Amino acid sequence: MQVKSKINSILESALNSIGANPKEVIVSEATKAEFGDFQYNGAMALAKELKQNPRKIAEDIASKLESNELFSKVEVAGPGFINLTINREFLEESLIASLDSRAGVGKKEEQIRVVVDYSSPNMAKQMHVGHLRSTIIGDTIANLFEFLGDEVIRQNHIGDWGTQFGMLVAYFEETGANADAKLSDLEQFYKEAKARFDENEEFATKSRQNVVKLQSGDKATLKLWKTFIEKSLHHAQDIYNSLGVKLDNSHVRGESAYNDNLENIVKELEQRGIAKESQGAKCLFFEDSETPLIIQKADGGYLYATTDLAAIKFRVQELGAKRVCYVVDARQAEHFKQVFKTAKSAGFANEDTLLEHIAFGMMLDKSGKPFKTRSGGTVKLKELIDEAVDRAKSVISRASEYDEQELEHIAKVVGIGSLKYADLSINRQSNYIFDWDKMLSLDGNTALYMQYAYARINSILNRAEEFKIVKPTFSDELERRLALKILNLEDTLNRAYKEAMPHLITNYLYELVSLFMRFYEQNPILKEGVDEEQKNSRLILAKATANAIKVSLNILGIEVLERI
Ligand code: ARG
Repeated sequence: MQVKSKINSILESALNSIGANPKEVIVSEATKAEFGDFQYNGAMALAKELKQNPRKIAEDIASKLESNELFSKVEVAGPGFINLTINREFLEESLIASLDSRAGVGKKEEQIRVVVDYSSPNMAKQMHVGHLRSTIIGDTIANLFEFLGDEVIRQNHIGDWGTQFGMLVAYFEETGANADAKLSDLEQFYKEAKARFDENEEFATKSRQNVVKLQSGDKATLKLWKTFIEKSLHHAQDIYNSLGVKLDNSHVRGESAYNDNLENIVKELEQRGIAKESQGAKCLFFEDSETPLIIQKADGGYLYATTDLAAIKFRVQELGAKRVCYVVDARQAEHFKQVFKTAKSAGFANEDTLLEHIAFGMMLDKSGKPFKTRSGGTVKLKELIDEAVDRAKSVISRASEYDEQELEHIAKVVGIGSLKYADLSINRQSNYIFDWDKMLSLDGNTALYMQYAYARINSILNRAEEFKIVKPTFSDELERRLALKILNLEDTLNRAYKEAMPHLITNYLYELVSLFMRFYEQNPILKEGVDEEQKNSRLILAKATANAIKVSLNILGIEVLERI
C-alpha cells in the first residue's frame, strides 16, 4: 500500500484541474495530530504562478479533494496549508494486506540490475571501523534494493593490488615456514613487514622487484600473493559471518581482477582525447577541480582511479548494471566525482546509468575524536563485535533469566543488532558517535526496543486464539493512526530506496513501535471485557505491526526474536 503516493497523484489531478502544473507534488506527514495525517504546502509557491491569493488556491484544491473517499476531512489552514485526514474505513479495508510476509509491501514497477560496492577493505591492512560502516550500510542498501525487486549484484572491491603487496610478499617469503603462524595476527604481520621495509635496503629492493614481478604475472610471486590474500580474506569473512552480512567469496572482485584491462583503459582515454600527459604522467583534468585525476604514473604504474574506471566499465557493460552504488567514506567524494564524470564522457557508462557515491561520515568516540583504542591504535573489528555481544548479554540477563544456550543466542542477536542499528539510525552523511550505553538502551531508537516490541507482540499472539482475517473495526483515533503508520511502510521503503538512506527506515520503526506501545497501554487486547470484534481487530493491528517490524529489521540485516 502506497498511501502517500496515492495522495500525491490525487493531488496532482486536482492541481491540474485548476490550471497548476508544479514540477513535483509532494505531501508530507503532518507534524501534529491536529493537522490531520498529511499536509500539502504547495499553494504558497503556486500563488505567483497563478497570480492568485494562496488561501484561495488552497480552497480551490481542497474543494476538488473533498469528494474523494480517501479523505474523511480536508481542511485549509493559515495562509494556505491543506490538511488531510485519511478515511478510517479505507484504512480498515487496507490493513488486511499487511498480514502477509511482506507486510503488504509490493515490488517496484520497474526492476533493474544494480551493483552495490561495499565493505571493500584493503588487504594490506587490518579491516577498520570505516569498513564496518561500509559493510553495515552497504548490506542494508543491497537488502532494500533486493526486497523491492531489483536484481542486486554485491561487489567486494577489495584492495589487493599495488605497491604494498610487494612488501608483504617479501616478508612472507622471508618468514618462510613461519609465515602461516605469523599471519594469524595480520596486524602484527603488516607492522613487521613495514618495519623491515624501512630499516633494510635489501628488503626494500626485493619488495619493489616483487611489485614488478606481480604485475607482470610471475607465477611464484603470484602464488605467495594469493596465499596472503586468501588469509586476509578469511579474516574478513569471519567478520562478515559474525555480523551476518551477506558477503562471501563469490562477491569478491578486487582491484587485481582489473589488472589486465588497465592498459586499454588508459589507451582508450588517450585516444578520445580525455587523458593528457603532464610531467610524464597521464592525467585527467576537470574544470571544476584543482587537482587532476592521475591514471598512470610516470613510471608506468596504474592507480586506484584507473582500476575504478575499469570496474565501472565492467559493471555497466559486462554485468549490465543500470545503477551502481559505492558505499564508501565521504572523504573519497572528489575521487568518485571525477571517476563518474570520466566514465560518462568516455562512454564506459551510459548517460542514464546511475552512478552514486553512497557517502558516510566518520565513526567518532563520545568526545568527538576519531574512534581509536586507548593507546591510539585502530580498533579491531573482531573485538568490537565480541564486546557488543558481551554487553548485550549483561543487559538482557539483568532483565530476565535464561538458560545458557538461550542467553548466548539472544545476546548475539541483540548485540549484533544493536551495533548495526546504531550505525544505521543516523543520517549516514553525518559523523557517527559511537556510544555503547545509548546503543543498548531498552528504551529509545535502538534495536533492542524494536526486538522487545516484536517479542512482546509475539507472546500476545501466542496467548490469543487464532484471529479471523476479516475487516477490522478501529475503536479509536490511536488505532486509526497505528494502521496508517503500518500502511506507510511501503512509501517509507521507496523513499529510502530512492535516496539510499537507511535511517529513514529506523525513523519509521521508532515511530511505529512508539505508537504501538501507546496503543497497547491504552487498548488492552486480551483483557477480560474486551468484546470479540474489538479483540479481533486489535490482534490484526498487533500482527500487522509485528510484520512491519520484522520486514524492516530484516532489511536492516537485524534478526528478530520470538522471545526475549
Ligand atoms: N579499498 C578502498 C578503501 O579501503 C575502498 C574501495 C571502495 N570501492 C571502490 N570501488 N573504490 O578505502
